[in-house]
Amino acid sequence: MKGCQCFSALFIVCFAVLGCVQAVTLEVKDGNSTCIKAELSASLSVTYNTSNGTRTVMVSLPNSTLVDTAKSSCGGSGSAPWLVAAFGSGHAIGLSFSTNGSVYSVTNLTLQYNLSDFSLFPEANSSGVVSVTNASVGIWAPINTTYRCVSPTTIRALEVAVTFSDMRLEAYMPGNDLSPAESVCTADQTPTAPPTTTTAATTTTTAPPRPPPGTPERGTYSVRNINGTECLLAQMGLQLNVSYFSQSENKTVQELFNLTPNLTSSSGSCGASRATLVLTQDQNTTLSFIFTMNSTSNKYHLSGIVLLANWSDMSAPLSASNTSLDYLRSTLGRSFMCNAEQTLRVVPAFSLNTFRLQVQPFGVTTKQFAAAEECQMDQDQMLIPIIVGAALAGLVLIVLIAYLIGRKRSHAGYQTI
Ligand SMILES: *[C@@H]1O[C@H](CO)[C@@H](O)[C@H](O)[C@H]1NC(C)=O
Ligand SMILES: *[C@@H]1O[C@H](CO)[C@@H](O)[C@H](O)[C@H]1NC(C)=O
Ligand SMILES: *[C@@H]1O[C@H](CO)[C@@H](O)[C@H](O)[C@H]1NC(C)=O
Ligand SMILES: *[C@@H]1O[C@H](CO)[C@@H](O)[C@H](O)[C@H]1NC(C)=O
Ligand SMILES: *[C@@H]1O[C@H](CO)[C@@H](O)[C@H](O)[C@H]1NC(C)=O
Ligand SMILES: *[C@@H]1O[C@H](CO)[C@@H](O)[C@H](O)[C@H]1NC(C)=O
Ligand SMILES: *[C@@H]1O[C@H](CO)[C@@H](O)[C@H](O)[C@H]1NC(C)=O
Ligand SMILES: *[C@@H]1O[C@H](CO)[C@@H](O)[C@H](O)[C@H]1NC(C)=O
Ligand SMILES: *[C@@H]1O[C@H](CO)[C@@H](O)[C@H](O)[C@H]1NC(C)=O
Ligand SMILES: *[C@@H]1O[C@H](CO)[C@@H](O)[C@H](O)[C@H]1NC(C)=O
Ligand SMILES: *[C@@H]1O[C@H](CO)[C@@H](O)[C@H](O)[C@H]1NC(C)=O
Ligand SMILES: *[C@@H]1O[C@H](CO)[C@@H](O)[C@H](O)[C@H]1NC(C)=O
Repeated sequence: MKGCQCFSALFIVCFAVLGCVQAVTLEVKDGNSTCIKAELSASLSVTYNTSNGTRTVMVSLPNSTLVDTAKSSCGGSGSAPWLVAAFGSGHAIGLSFSTNGSVYSVTNLTLQYNLSDFSLFPEANSSGVVSVTNASVGIWAPINTTYRCVSPTTIRALEVAVTFSDMRLEAYMPGNDLSPAESVCTADQTPTAPPTTTTAATTTTTAPPRPPPGTPERGTYSVRNINGTECLLAQMGLQLNVSYFSQSENKTVQELFNLTPNLTSSSGSCGASRATLVLTQDQNTTLSFIFTMNSTSNKYHLSGIVLLANWSDMSAPLSASNTSLDYLRSTLGRSFMCNAEQTLRVVPAFSLNTFRLQVQPFGVTTKQFAAAEECQMDQDQMLIPIIVGAALAGLVLIVLIAYLIGRKRSHAGYQTI
């Protein structure tokens, strides 16, 4: 993938922008029962030596990744449960687990890459398989719960950095499927609301007000599946309403920020029950939408929004997400439309304003939106002309009846003469 040759520091952006990342499902079984299951996307950045200096390549876990059944195991008799996923020619990623009875955790992450794979590591000045390990991964969850982290998490081991995103995994599973109870990683959790003190209020009034950015431009975004056909369509104007600690003003500020469509790139993924749209602007703003389909009712909705922002004036990068939302509800085979401005509350420090929105995350068969289900606000607005029209029609009718009655009276008047 040509787009993947970006700097390692930017590779989160790389995968967000270029959509090089695919979700894979990996399972380790012992007979018929599953002990480890992982659904994740992963992107690796590997720095290696060439005769000219060092070079960094980006590679994402392809969906042809398979569990290495010879190395993976459910553990027991002194060995730890181990998930080893192999991909490409001799590359692998391994997660080893342990538990103390109430909590399970990833004890170490092992990465193995084969420098002899010249298609991935051109001009490498050494060959053979390199293996690196990081033993402080920080992934843990209570037993009988699924660890979930939608936000990207980067783990480094020497020359390699792995970024997981959209991750759900469980070890020591009680059943063959991921437990419905989820343990949400810190990055996905609601950031604490900015403190609102009276001093902050007084400084707010003295500070010069920021100019409001006006209505955002409407952008057209889409996600394509592996064979290049559109599988998610979206058109909308987007405005972020963000509270953060401003370095220049030394206080928490609230800012409206419009996404500029021609500076924003889209990527994402499509699935039968889950679809994501990831919008990235200027490599410092990434906004993700997660849509969920209920296959029983054939209804879908926007279930999650994730914002990552690293703006120059922020004292620390902002990561805000909420994955238990219920917005933009519609039916499979239809799109959702809302021309009126909507405010989608995500967390106390972040809400999203949408303008002239139309989305279809599932059941896209052509490049066109299917028939739309409209939001209540649009329906209410459509009612106004109908009510006005009905009132006018009523008025015309009354005038007409009055005229007819009047005419009949006057006719009657003539005949009596
Ligand atoms: C696994 O499942 C198959 C069929 O579903 C069954 O015949 C077999 O006995 C099972 N094996 C174990 C170890 O439970
Ligand atoms: C790359 O070369 C430097 C010195 O030339 C060496 O220290 C380093 O270990 C090498 N890295 C790899 C991955 O071979
Ligand atoms: C070394 O780098 C230069 C430019 O940086 C490039 O033109 C050249 O092809 C490289 N040579 C090798 C052997 O990689
Ligand atoms: C890879 O993904 C594509 C579309 O997302 C799918 O059609 C294909 O079956 C997948 N391949 C594997 C090996 O899972
Ligand atoms: C297991 O580890 C967790 C976290 O380290 C700790 O809070 C918990 O008390 C431990 N449980 C047992 C039974 O040791
Ligand atoms: C990873 O952890 C497992 C289990 O704790 C251990 O057996 C293995 O040796 C570790 N691997 C490395 C490379 O440290
Ligand atoms: C986990 O679930 C299994 C089966 O539902 C149960 O036997 C076990 O006690 C549970 N463990 C904990 C720590 O809750
Ligand atoms: C593209 O792939 C999707 C599923 O991955 C399939 O439904 C569709 O028919 C494919 N389209 C073409 C043109 O191959
Ligand atoms: C920021 O404000 C705090 C308290 O409001 C103050 O102690 C600190 O010196 C200020 N820092 C700067 C750089 O102005
Ligand atoms: C983006 O659009 C704005 C306004 O529509 C225009 O002024 C600007 O030149 C465009 N920038 C690029 C990079 O196309
Ligand atoms: C799916 O829809 C059905 C029927 O409306 C409902 O009973 C069920 O709880 C929904 N499932 C989920 C996962 O929301
Ligand atoms: C984001 O990055 C771009 C380019 O580096 C910069 O021009 C812009 O000011 C940044 N945006 C914010 C809000 O810091």
